[in-house]
Amino acid sequence: MKQLSVWAGSAAIAAVCAVATGAQAQGAPKLKVGFMLPYSGTYAALGNNIENGFKLYVAERGGKLGGRELEYFKVDDESDPAKATDNVNKLIKRDQVDVIIGTVHSGVAAGMARVVKDSGTLTIVPNAGVNAVTGAMCAPNIFRSSFSNWQPAYAMGSVMAERGHKKVVTITWGYAGGAEMVDGFKESFTKGGGQVVKDLTLPFPTVEFQALITEIAATKPDAVYTFFAGGGAVKFVKDYAAAGLNKTIPLYGPGFLTDGTLEAQGASASGLMTTLHYADGLTVPKDRAFRTSYTAAYKAPPDVYAVQGYDAAQMLGAGLEAVKGDFGKKKELYAAIEAARIDSPRGVFTISKSHNPVQDIYLRKVDGNENKVVSVAAKALADPARGCSM
Ligand code: PHB
Repeated sequence: MKQLSVWAGSAAIAAVCAVATGAQAQGAPKLKVGFMLPYSGTYAALGNNIENGFKLYVAERGGKLGGRELEYFKVDDESDPAKATDNVNKLIKRDQVDVIIGTVHSGVAAGMARVVKDSGTLTIVPNAGVNAVTGAMCAPNIFRSSFSNWQPAYAMGSVMAERGHKKVVTITWGYAGGAEMVDGFKESFTKGGGQVVKDLTLPFPTVEFQALITEIAATKPDAVYTFFAGGGAVKFVKDYAAAGLNKTIPLYGPGFLTDGTLEAQGASASGLMTTLHYADGLTVPKDRAFRTSYTAAYKAPPDVYAVQGYDAAQMLGAGLEAVKGDFGKKKELYAAIEAARIDSPRGVFTISKSHNPVQDIYLRKVDGNENKVVSVAAKALADPARGCSM
């Protein structure tokens, strides 16, 4: 992972923060933050970019949130749900962290949420979209800075129906993330008059797509809807184009298909349309500043994962500032996060009662190495938070 470099202005920001710091934070021990993220496997880049984004925001605040210095711990969760309980307990019991920032994979997040619901550890989910985390499993101490799987998927179903596609094949990994991304899509696509003629899956994180791509070609749908991300998304988009299907059967999906992946996908991704809560070419002032400082710090452009990490730090910061770093004041701290308007590079978002972002979902189109914004596919979209009683 690239190291964060120091940039001009941070000293000035630190000075301002020092003045704003309340008495409670003076001399307080460092707040322990545990990253539970994938640092290996198909989602490794996602985990790294989340951590980078988080640390960028903290560095911009002079290394402190609410006057408290932070100390970091990390666990590579390997995107393996079977290890989720052990891994989250390493942070809670061994490292005794105050806050968990995790994770990426929906199955791992569900296992993690079960543990932190019991332990009461403040947890901010910086990617994994598993609906239940801000639905049936919602809890006062669990927040999300990213999205629910339902959000970008539901937005895409409407887009594809409006574009006149009638018969669609879906293809994804057979795990909670993939299944929910397909369910959300179907909900709006069928409402719009579309029909899903076939659902194809393969086990996470395998990338032997060939037989399934052959099946798509034989089925001849109007379009294909897919969820893949990270290394798997790179390979799927390349294989789809290599089979020539990008010329005959349009491919759509949530924007994870093309975010942070375009350099590796090259021409095979050209023209792909996706839906996501972030895009290139937004006219959001915060986005310009964020991109400049992220690129300066890490020598690479940010992606949606970096934004979600940055915003997880903003959410934690909003809570800590309200209690002047006094982490014991949990009720006030959580209330402040709930009430926050997060000035995100994606555009300002608010936080729903179930603790999920209420946010615009953009329609984007790949142009060169950019996911250029085309329009707002869904304005201030809130997850239905099915099953959440809090
Ligand atoms: C998920 O499993 O929830 C997930 C993983 C990677 C993404 C998006 C969602 O890019």
